[in-house]
Amino acid sequence: MSGMTYNRPVFEAYPQLRDALPWLQLADLPTRVEPLTALGANGWVKRDDISHAVYGGNKIRKLEFILADAIARGKDHVITFGATGTNHGVATAMLCQQLGLRCTVLLFEQPESQTVRDNLQRMENFGAERIFCGSLARTVLRYYGHPLRLSPRHYFLFAGGSNIAGTIGFVNAAFELRQQIELGQCPMPAKIFVPVGSAATLAGLTIGMALAGLKTEVVGIRVAPSHLGVIPTCTVATVHQLMKRTCKMLSRCGLSLPAIPGPNLIDSYYGEGYGVRSEAGDKATATFAACGITLDQTYTAKAAAAYLDAIAASTDVQLYWHTYNSRPAQDVNDLRPFGNGPR
Ligand SMILES: Cc1ncc(COP(=O)(O)O)c(C=O)c1O
Repeated sequence: MSGMTYNRPVFEAYPQLRDALPWLQLADLPTRVEPLTALGANGWVKRDDISHAVYGGNKIRKLEFILADAIARGKDHVITFGATGTNHGVATAMLCQQLGLRCTVLLFEQPESQTVRDNLQRMENFGAERIFCGSLARTVLRYYGHPLRLSPRHYFLFAGGSNIAGTIGFVNAAFELRQQIELGQCPMPAKIFVPVGSAATLAGLTIGMALAGLKTEVVGIRVAPSHLGVIPTCTVATVHQLMKRTCKMLSRCGLSLPAIPGPNLIDSYYGEGYGVRSEAGDKATATFAACGITLDQTYTAKAAAAYLDAIAASTDVQLYWHTYNSRPAQDVNDLRPFGNGPR
């Protein structure tokens, strides 16, 4: 990667990370920040829905670091898992195809919806091998017990892209927001609202805000089950664990870290289950539709419901981080190969 322009603000803040962290420019960044004037003077949105020309959303930021990490480790086949409507699976399939990597997605069932149908089709169009495993528990067993686990060529990527590399994508995102505030593109928000599934978005932004010296509070809205049987999967402790592992890596790279707050994870918008629509989410979807923004029932509707409550309760500036792709499904045919690929 010699001659590379490291045009991500986290590399400007910490040049020592350039040599330590593999990175590939895959996303269209920075994503815009915009006022949501229909919601009043304190409503703002960060448009990660357009983080890529063909398929946007929050996963693209993570994959810049994840797929670079995979390639740096000599891997040529990514194996990951998600629900049948997984946005992460689509983004990973797309960028693997661009980079000339193979991609396998192990899938568990979720409530049927148009998003599920679209995303299954997208994964196929992007050349991913899709393996339907049934329940979440069966899928997780298949992932952890996979016969290729120890293969030097296969990169096992946790659901949602929430490993340390993926978390760095959102540490960078905090520095990106700071730049936008400094440039006067948006006011300093009191709070940022994000959905929380596999947690790298919340973990990375929480670390990033502290590193960037911003007082903004990052509020994560849990949208995935807190436990799988007795095993915690989406709790304050699991998010904290991901933050600690990421901070440890950053310390090893020579960064001296400030005090970092624990994750702020709110349970009360989850409703009846993963992917199950909620009344507050449906109301938020209608309100956002009037602003020209499409929410999904699994992730963004629930986070947006919390954001709307905060807007109603205070005059402070609130930022909704829009994590859901808004590029139409037919655009998959527009995908161009990534140069000749790195391999
Ligand atoms: C649209 C959308 N928003 C938010 C999230 C949650 O992000 P994270 O997995 O980093 O918690 C996901 C994860 O799949 C997603 O697809």
